[in-house]
Amino acid sequence: MYRLIFKMPLVCAFTSLLLFHPSLVQSDHSENRNGISARSAADLVHGVIEAGRTTYSQAIVDRLGKSHSLKTTENWKQENTLPLPAQFLMMSSRMSNQRGIGMRYRLMSLWPINPQNAPPSQTEQRGLNQVAQQPGEPFTWVVQKNGLWFYEAIYPDKAVAESCVFCHNHHPKSPKTDFKVGDVMGGIVIDLPLGRRFNKKPSDQFLFPPEVVADYVHSILESNRAVYAKHVVDRLESRGVMSSSENWEQDQSLMLPAQFLMNTSRLIRRKGLGLDFQLISLWPINMKNSPGNEFEQVGLETVDYHPIRPYSGRVKIGRKQFFQSIYPDLAVAPACIECHNAHPKSPKRDFKLLDVMGGIVVTLPVR
Ligand code: HEC
Ligand code: HEC
Repeated sequence: MYRLIFKMPLVCAFTSLLLFHPSLVQSDHSENRNGISARSAADLVHGVIEAGRTTYSQAIVDRLGKSHSLKTTENWKQENTLPLPAQFLMMSSRMSNQRGIGMRYRLMSLWPINPQNAPPSQTEQRGLNQVAQQPGEPFTWVVQKNGLWFYEAIYPDKAVAESCVFCHNHHPKSPKTDFKVGDVMGGIVIDLPLGRRFNKKPSDQFLFPPEVVADYVHSILESNRAVYAKHVVDRLESRGVMSSSENWEQDQSLMLPAQFLMNTSRLIRRKGLGLDFQLISLWPINMKNSPGNEFEQVGLETVDYHPIRPYSGRVKIGRKQFFQSIYPDLAVAPACIECHNAHPKSPKRDFKLLDVMGGIVVTLPVR
């Protein structure tokens, strides 16, 4: 976890807590020096998608399937069960894609159960073939769609569990019935927009502004959390199938949406991508979610009265540079304020709908 100090006079009460002393970085408008390469941006985006997918598969589907025999089925809406991992990913990607931030992602396969998940063009088909044969590396290229250039990366989606193989091989609509554990079953296709005037250079030369990559990461996190809150927690609770609780591990219940996000962030930290995110607040239920330094304190105060845009900045730790964005986290549903206002450990009891309740901090490595 990175606890950073930024834009501050050198004297600061928190400095003693730091392993390294961060130095201020002059703002530099040259994108060349400070951007994130297209390949790294795609790796970060894919890392977040995969960590969300793993949280859902392991901490929700596998755990509740074993402990509570809560089933995961294709017709989850009618059957009061959990959506399949692929359906979870697709609902989340649809939500993120509809936000119109430019970056898009999808799950596809050469052997799809749902024909809509087939590659829409020959380029995607070639890429899926390539990652099926060489799953160690994503397949990347630059494509033009409707006059706009995209950096496209395809990462393999593997049969990580026996259940993947069993269900697909036995599904009446599956065109392939001999998947084995470890096989590539499809791919996660990520499109990053490069603009209209792009003239084909080696694609890795293309650099993305870090604030844009932070927006991508934030969009995926928000979508995962919203899909989990709406289609898992709210639905199963309102139908009396299962409740959610803070102590989900002991109670054999569903974790809270905030915990879904925190669980994903624990997984991403282990990947060693240098990417990190946290949910923090000036009025935290859990003291661990307090701002860790002056940058986070100022950022939370700022998004509280400028809730439209994130609060961002750069920092250097040792020889490494990081970029941070703090996005406001709004009370979008009555449940947010009901639970926080009534929680015995909450220091604030008068949250109103659409108040800023805290912030999501996204930390990225930059050159
Ligand atoms: C209980 C059955 C079931 C399980 C378990 C399951 N899937 Fe699927 N999977 C489906 C269904 C059904 C679809 C089509 C969903 C839709 O309507 O878009 C699908 C879609 C997919 C797709 C998109 C292409 C397609 O077939 O439409 C991929 C890739 C995929 N699954 C991979 C996996 C992997 C990897 C796992 C294990 C981690 C897994 N699936 C577990 C049933 C299952
Ligand atoms: C059922 C109760 C409940 C609901 C509903 C709920 N939260 Fe929380 N929230 C918690 C708890 C408990 C924590 C502390 C989790 C932990 O231990 O880290 C938390 C943590 C947070 C944090 C991090 C700071 C803190 O308080 O520790 C934020 C920000 C937050 N929630 C915002 C929201 C928003 C926005 C919503 C609605 C979209 C929401 N919460 C819905 C109970 C809830």
